[in-house]
Amino acid sequence: MTLLAIETSCDETSAAVVRDGKVLSNVVFSQIKLHAEYGGVVPELAAREHLKNLLPVAQAALSEAGISPVQLDAVAATQGPGLGIALLIGFKAAQAVAFALDKPFMGINHHEAHLYSPWIHSVPEVASPSPLGGERAGERDELLPFADFTDFQPNLSLIVSGGHTMLVLVESELKHRVLGGTIDDAAGECFDKTGKLMGLAYPAGPAIDQLAEQGNPKAYDFPRPLLHDANDDFSFSGLKTSVRYFIRDHPTLLDDQKQICDLCASVQAAIVEVLVKKTIRAAKREGVRCITASGGVTCNRGLRAELERACKSNGFALRLAEKNLCTDNAAMIGILAERKLMAKAPLPALSEEIQPGWQLA
Ligand code: KG4
Ligand code: ZN
Repeated sequence: MTLLAIETSCDETSAAVVRDGKVLSNVVFSQIKLHAEYGGVVPELAAREHLKNLLPVAQAALSEAGISPVQLDAVAATQGPGLGIALLIGFKAAQAVAFALDKPFMGINHHEAHLYSPWIHSVPEVASPSPLGGERAGERDELLPFADFTDFQPNLSLIVSGGHTMLVLVESELKHRVLGGTIDDAAGECFDKTGKLMGLAYPAGPAIDQLAEQGNPKAYDFPRPLLHDANDDFSFSGLKTSVRYFIRDHPTLLDDQKQICDLCASVQAAIVEVLVKKTIRAAKREGVRCITASGGVTCNRGLRAELERACKSNGFALRLAEKNLCTDNAAMIGILAERKLMAKAPLPALSEEIQPGWQLA
């Protein structure tokens, strides 16, 4: 089965061609630079950029895969959750392609697709830069460097990004249960907002990651919200507030690079400790033997290292999404859509609408 997938739920315009569980192409055009000026994603601008870039991105994905539209067996797109006007662009374009080709169309839940990204094996291509000058991810290579991932079910999946932080139990193929999520801010938002307080540009996560490398994670003691609560929920707004007050009460701190590095390392340590300890605790309780993680914050080196250490010492297999597949991409949408089509999941009517608030159950 050959499938074209489209993802436009937030600020990445992405198209991928997937065939029989393999990613033939995955073109991602990131709008990060555009939104940096505003300190966050501006929905109207995101939608206009998707509109401008979607066709070239889709054409690039097809040509890179060596596939012409008539060879497609199905089309898929993210249906939700996400920014309504951003989703609308990719979803309606994909429906139109399916309609024109008279092929099945599959609307996909973005979070459910994240559950699949840790299993996609990609080899970044160095030789050919993106036709649009954006980021390039996932190239002709196959899913699964080891065994079939159904061998690793049940597993526990941490999805951690700028908009979401959740723990999902993947019970079996296409069957999962959300164990917990954030009750206020996502971990990525905590990175971005605390970074903003330090004067770092949006999105601040990567800069904090970098500065934290040279800092002392024990320099300042920030709260670890909900760490000891007997649930799988997260909360990061209190941590954000405590960083705000800490900076207010130490006005000269930001004048000193060493102290900025210590601050970054200490904030990162607080976020990472909560994420890792709660993930390990849930994994033990649910009796899984494998943990996976995806979403933009999974790029964080401190989080990756700590998950690796904790999984090793607790005997869990760990599957982290490759860095270029942690952030939003159409490959994961295509992989999930293909598995749904193969499992004969009911096809949505072509008149289906986007679901910006579609939460995983
Ligand atoms: O998955 P993503 O691209 O978009 C959504 O939010 O859906 O995630 C973006 C988030 C931002 O908050 C960004 O700061 C964070 O991921 N992020 C990081 C790192 N790279 C990206 N946070 C910490 N360390 C990083 N290296
Ligand atoms: Zn995402």
